[in-house]
Amino acid sequence: MSPRPVRIAPSILAADFGRLAEEVRAVEEAGADWIHVDVMDGHFVPNLTIGPVVVEAVRAATQLPLDVHLMIEEPERSLESYVAAGAATVGVQVEACTHLHRTLGQIREAGARASVVLNPATPAGAIEPVLGDVDQVLVMTVNPGFGGQSFIESQLEKIARIRRWIDESDLAVDLEVDGGIGPGTAGRVVRAGADVLVAGTAIFRAPSYPDAIAALRKEAAGT
Ligand code: DX5
Ligand code: ZN
Repeated sequence: MSPRPVRIAPSILAADFGRLAEEVRAVEEAGADWIHVDVMDGHFVPNLTIGPVVVEAVRAATQLPLDVHLMIEEPERSLESYVAAGAATVGVQVEACTHLHRTLGQIREAGARASVVLNPATPAGAIEPVLGDVDQVLVMTVNPGFGGQSFIESQLEKIARIRRWIDESDLAVDLEVDGGIGPGTAGRVVRAGADVLVAGTAIFRAPSYPDAIAALRKEAAGT
């Protein structure tokens, strides 16, 4: 079996927001595949970040697909505005969705790829019934809310389990990881089965964006 292509999605949470367009263009030039955008409402997570207006500004700054991660309560009330702002993928947290299946359908209906996101304490089984209804699963490898936290080791097993389910049913579902991804963890999550790596600190706080992205790719390839 040929190795899965691994995509790198820099998280702008760790970027300089005063120069956001420039930062996004810089990671695009440095070889990023997607731009990961963290939306936080100050309720589902304690931190508060950005809304559709900023997503629109990021959309205008790059050709890359925007992977929008909603860490908000009741995402069904506002997810269409993120699609209208230019999100290619919209991720909703399992824990924030009372009617998860319906909300995932709503994302696709609005014209975006549907991503389902699990917190570290949420078991893999929580998303098994909707695996056939999503384009992506995002396994949080830190508790959401902040950049720069340490990778939670116990998530490796969850990644491997979800990878098995995807492969057994031959599903076209991306398996993304987010939190504490960098040198030392990138290779391990890819070996466990991840094929999209979100990285904030490891890219935007590195002295060279091209070098940081190349280092992640090298580790992901196991070279
Ligand atoms: C955390 C966010 C992440 C964050 C990752 O709640 O979902 O996308 O930016 O940051 P690092 O890569 O620094 O752990
Ligand atoms: Zn994120």
